[in-house]
Amino acid sequence: MTHTVTLIPGDGIGPAITEATLSVLAAAGAPIDWERREAGLTAAEHGNDLLPQETLDSIERNRFCLKGPLTTPIGAGFRSINVALRKHFDLYANVDATAMQLVLDPYQFDVIFTENMFGDILSDLAAGLVGGLGFAPGVNIGKDVALFEAVHGSAPDIAGRNVANPTALLLAACMLLEHLGLAETAARVRASLRALVEEGHAVTRDLGGTAGTSEFADAVSRRLENVDAPV
Ligand code: NAI
Repeated sequence: MTHTVTLIPGDGIGPAITEATLSVLAAAGAPIDWERREAGLTAAEHGNDLLPQETLDSIERNRFCLKGPLTTPIGAGFRSINVALRKHFDLYANVDATAMQLVLDPYQFDVIFTENMFGDILSDLAAGLVGGLGFAPGVNIGKDVALFEAVHGSAPDIAGRNVANPTALLLAACMLLEHLGLAETAARVRASLRALVEEGHAVTRDLGGTAGTSEFADAVSRRLENVDAPV
């Protein structure tokens, strides 16, 4: 069975990490048809609304969306296109109440529920605990739809330079696969990614390597042939 999922590549490093993620999912044989839609600056550049109705319709229809980071537009009438998107679909972010406890003993927490702003801050803190923003996936699960994304933003300082780490979006895509009932495919991608990062070669510069976004993704794809998914 093929699943149709809405795809918003996003702004800044969004298109590069999205292509990297799609190439790994294709190599893993994930049966997904991507319905590409625009939002944010890319939509505005093409003369559309920041959050076009056809993008909302696509998410509503497909119920699942993989989204690249969106740059927050300056003076656009509302604070964030991301907040507008989450509000539209009644999505809530997980959060925490004690940042200190999170630093001292993160393992005491399984799930943290909080309001959006605290969640935003604490998820960046948690990202710092596990190796940086390039490693932190996110998902907003609502009553009707689920939207998967990286925790990090559009990173304008490195956009267009083929140096962004695609791991966070790839891990978000793994959560999408699990929601679609494709847990085995997700496990293979995770195992390949883990092996590559542990090995330390062919990783992006935030992990101490010299590989570009696309080389990193290619290396993950190649490793897929040699990994057994944990049962
Ligand atoms: P950012 O997360 O884009 O960047 C912070 C730092 O982390 C930068 O030095 C960047 O180069 C680095 N970084 C981020 N992702 C990386 C990756 N995958 N690989 C390697 N390095 C990475 O945060 P910033 O600069 O505060 O925000 C930029 C724009 O993104 C703003 O317009 C902001 O509103 C938006 N944003 C969007 C989010 C979303 O779409 N969910 C979340 C956070 C910010």
